[in-house]
Amino acid sequence: MGAMETAIVLAAGQGTRMRSALPKVMHRVCGVPLVHFVVQAALDAGCHEVVVVVGHGRTHVEDYLRGAFPGPRVRTAVQQEPRGTGDAARMGLAAADARATRVFIVNGDIPLVRGEDLRTVAATLDDTTPPADLAFATCVLDNPAGYGRVLRVASKVVEIREDRDLRSSEERAVGEINAGLYVAGAAWLRTALGALAPNNAQRELYLTDIVSHAHRTGKAVPTACLSADVLAGVNDRQQLADVEQTMHERLVRKWRLAGATVRDGARVEATVTLEPDATVEHGAVLRGTTHVARGATIDVGCVLTNVLVEPGATVKPYSVGTDSRIGARAQVGPFAHLRPETELGEEACVGNFVETKKTKMGRRAKANHLAYLGDGVIGDGANVGAGTIFCNYDGVQKHTTTIETGVFIGSDSQLVAPVTVGRDAYVATGTTVTRDVPPEALAIGRMRQENKEGYASKLRARLRAQKDAKAK
Ligand code: UD1
Ligand code: MG
Repeated sequence: MGAMETAIVLAAGQGTRMRSALPKVMHRVCGVPLVHFVVQAALDAGCHEVVVVVGHGRTHVEDYLRGAFPGPRVRTAVQQEPRGTGDAARMGLAAADARATRVFIVNGDIPLVRGEDLRTVAATLDDTTPPADLAFATCVLDNPAGYGRVLRVASKVVEIREDRDLRSSEERAVGEINAGLYVAGAAWLRTALGALAPNNAQRELYLTDIVSHAHRTGKAVPTACLSADVLAGVNDRQQLADVEQTMHERLVRKWRLAGATVRDGARVEATVTLEPDATVEHGAVLRGTTHVARGATIDVGCVLTNVLVEPGATVKPYSVGTDSRIGARAQVGPFAHLRPETELGEEACVGNFVETKKTKMGRRAKANHLAYLGDGVIGDGANVGAGTIFCNYDGVQKHTTTIETGVFIGSDSQLVAPVTVGRDAYVATGTTVTRDVPPEALAIGRMRQENKEGYASKLRARLRAQKDAKAK
């Protein structure tokens, strides 16, 4: 039988260097909190449980984890006081399944780590002879400042020494750092964590001291040297930005390999999905659960949050959409605003300066210019003219405007909801519709026009006389 594996994710620290009210592990990289990536990596590595140690801002972290990872595989343990990574690991181990034979410990602030990296470190432990109790991941950096350094004697790891505990410029010059990813036998780990003492600059229990513990008992500590592209830590805003850059490149490469065109300068969050032949132009920002289907194009400068874009649809430049659906081959924008619960049917058109909210448009329905369409139901093939407003709000309640199939709404019309315009009816330009319009009827409600022959010159003369009188 294979080893029963637990992962402990350390996520209880405040993250002082972020200078933020938000707990560090809840800061987002490509739209997703740091801790999410680390938990996902542990699950991908096949761990049978993941214990996330929470403390600072714990309810926030717990609420997030419950939503993102429902089910018993991901659990939390509480570290009451921030007494260091060693103390956090103790809390995690105490909460872990007692049957676990092997334990990964992963810092919650290394979001680039992947399941395969955990497996690499575990394989390093397995491949060591004579058998070792502990292995960890290292990285060689040009600028190792801030990280714990891996100190070796005759190539054997002796100790991890924290940056602020370094004693000489030789030690500071060591480029090999501890990445914050460890794997150990469970029984050995329990003993090693029990032996920790706060003998350091911060008066904390350092998890890293399990390395010198292993060395003192005569055991080798094997290491897996991995790239900074998978092990970079986030302690401040600059590192957050650096890591996000790497993560984004990774995501974009994945979508390009899958057949999507993603131009440089587009931003695609980690939760977004793209089909082959989807195109995302420069400066477009796709967030949340946005999905772009085959042949659809999101043009320059669009911002879409939780929007389903169906095959062949085009979202023209600088359009904004939220919690909406854009039907197959529909056209949106430029400069359109689809607010939550907009649903556009196949081949529907929403043009420039049109705002929709909680509005459903049927197949081939059109609103090509300058309109506010809130709380509406618009039938197939209906045409909504420029300047149309659905007056949906009476100051107290919202009401629905229903435009049935084939209706034509002339420009500059107002529809005072609740109101229904029946099938194939016609609303004349400039009409304020306050009563339902029967199917096939023409609704017209405006002043009758009067033309006064030759009156323009008389009018001008009168206006000039008024101006001269004022000047005197
Ligand atoms: C830690 C390592 C350092 C390593 C670096 C890699 C220690 C002592 N140092 O330093 O050797 O090079 O990571 O990125 O482990 N945490 C808790 N409880 C605490 C303190 C921290 O849960 O009491 C959590 C934090 O939320 C964080 C993780 O542990 O996710 C690491 O803590 P952090 O303060 O970032 O340690 P580093 O200074 O980065
Ligand atoms: Mg850190």
